[in-house]
Parts: sequence; C-alpha cells; structure tokens
Amino acid sequence: MNDFKKALTYVEPSLKREQSLNIEKMTWDNIGGLEDVKKKIRQAVEWPLIYKDSYRRLGLNPAKGILLYGPPGCSKTTLVKIIANTSHASFFMISCASLYSSYVGDSEKLVRNVFQKARASSPAVVFIDEVDAIVGRRGIGSSGTSDSVQERILSMLLNELDGIEAISSVLIVGATNRPDLIDAALLRSGRFDQIIYVPPPDYEGRIKILNIYTKNMPIAENVNLEEIAKKTELYTGADIQNVCREAAIIALRKLQNVEFVEMDDFIAALQVVKPSLSSEMVNQYKSLVEKYGSGTKS
Ligand SMILES: Nc1ncnc2c1ncn2[C@@H]1O[C@H](COP(=O)(O)OP(=O)(O)OP(=O)(O)O)[C@@H](O)[C@H]1O
Ligand SMILES: [Mg+2]
Repeated sequence: MNDFKKALTYVEPSLKREQSLNIEKMTWDNIGGLEDVKKKIRQAVEWPLIYKDSYRRLGLNPAKGILLYGPPGCSKTTLVKIIANTSHASFFMISCASLYSSYVGDSEKLVRNVFQKARASSPAVVFIDEVDAIVGRRGIGSSGTSDSVQERILSMLLNELDGIEAISSVLIVGATNRPDLIDAALLRSGRFDQIIYVPPPDYEGRIKILNIYTKNMPIAENVNLEEIAKKTELYTGADIQNVCREAAIIALRKLQNVEFVEMDDFIAALQVVKPSLSSEMVNQYKSLVEKYGSGTKS
C-alpha cells in the first residue's frame, strides 16, 4: 500500500498538468512574428505525423528532439503549448518543479514513467521546459546532491533519446535560455537533432504583438502602434504584453468608466514597464547563435 501511496505523489501531478495544458486554447495566431520559427517547428512536429507514410517511403528519419533556445519572455514555452494544442499528439511535460519536489530517486522514476506513457500513447510529444536547470552539464555545478540528481536524469534522458526508434513517433521538445549550460552529449545528432533560436521580436514582430494584445481593447484613434513598436526596441513579447495591460490600467485609473485607452496611456506605460533585454544580452545571444545556429535558415 505504501508503494501505491508513494506512486500517487508523483503520478497525479503530471496528469493534472497535462489536463491544465489542454485548457488554454492557443493557436499559432496567438504568437506575433517569428514566422520562420513557427514554420520550422510545424515542419518538425507536424510533417512526420501527417506524412508518416511518405517519410517511411523516402527513408527519412524525423527529428527525435527539438531544442528551442532564446532570451526569456520570447514565447518558447508558449510555442510548445501551441504544439500541444494543435498537433493531435499526446502531450507530456517534465518540469523542474515536479522533479525536484519528489523523493530522492523518484525524479528518475517520474522521467521514466513519462517516457513509458509517451511510448504507449504515441504519437506523443514530451516537453522538457528549462532543460538546462533539469540536466545541466556533467562535471560542473555547485552542491553535491542536486548535481548527482541532475547527472542521473541526464544519463537517463540520453538513454531514452537513444532508445527511441524513429518509427515510434515520440518527439522530445526542450526549451532553454542557456544552451551553453546543456551537456554537449544531448546536442549531438540523433538526440536534440534540431536546434531552433527563438529571437526577441523585431520591429515588424513588435507591431504584430501589439496588434494581438490590443485586439480586444478599445483603443483611441490617436494610438499609433508603429510608434510604440519603435519605442520598444529591447522589449520581449512578454514585456509588450505587460505594456498593453499597464496602459489599460493607467487609463482605468484616470477614469473608472473610461471608454478608450489613449496614446498617452501607452507612453506612460512605457515608463512603468522597462525592457527585459539589454544590448549586452542581445550580443550574448548573437554569439550563441554563431555557435549553435538559428535552425531557421533552410
Ligand atoms: N511573439 C509573441 N507574441 C505574442 N505573445 C508573446 C510573444 N512572445 C512572448 N509572448 C507572451 O509572453 C509571455 C511569456 O512567454 P513564454 O513564457 O512563452 O516565454 P519563454 O520564452 O518561455 O520565457 P522563459 O525563457 O522565461 O521561460 C506569454 O504570455 C506569451 O504569450
Ligand atoms: Mg519558458
């Protein structure tokens, strides 16, 4: 009985997560810009499922793993949630919180369990968010115990990746801000085959994001989204979402029955919501792209 009780502590949360992910009905249109990234991800996830027979006929091996990397707040996690909603594959998620809250030894069981379920219900996508925190890199890191948990999970993940047959239709998608902190073994071909950079939004992208977050907002005629896009150079998608929310709150604060959000409210919001990115960060990511590639050029 004790074994069952113990099992419940790690099985149940993962089921809850799977359900909660289904609640948010997101589509590719919820993401502004990033056309190349979206196309590449859809190709890697949907094509092997839709054109399964053609892949087999042509002897093509679909990617086993896709790694999304890029600065925080630029929609990596959201993109994967959209895959979950649109791909008709079963979806499983491994997150840092669930792994490190469990008993010693249980995190490995949890990982193994997820892969077993994924194989049993393929086609399936296994999403590992914040891969760097979960597996890290062998031989570096701080304290003893958490390190060895990381190492055990890493070697297990390598086994699982190597064990997946191309025809079993289990795709692993990872997301990280720091690909440089991920053990190189995971990035070798046959594991995370495809590495895709999710960049911060450019000018065009920012206009699209502003359009998304003002779509259901009554905005005054003087609101110039191009102008706001120009002023939000180092803002991430998440920052821009916050700017729009803040502008509405500022408008509301002026007048409870306010009808429209004005340009002034957006300008004031830009004073409150500061950009998450800095030129240094942008440069750091440029050198990461030189090392790992962007995965969106072909
Ligand atoms: N291009 C975009 N279009 C629309 N919304 C965006 C865009 N980029 C980010 N967002 C919004 O910003 C929020 C944060 O995004 P998300 O959590 O997916 O980022 P992330 O890249 O996973 O960040 P982190 O690296 O911190 O985990 C989400 O609500 C998302 O919808
Ligand atoms: Mg994320």
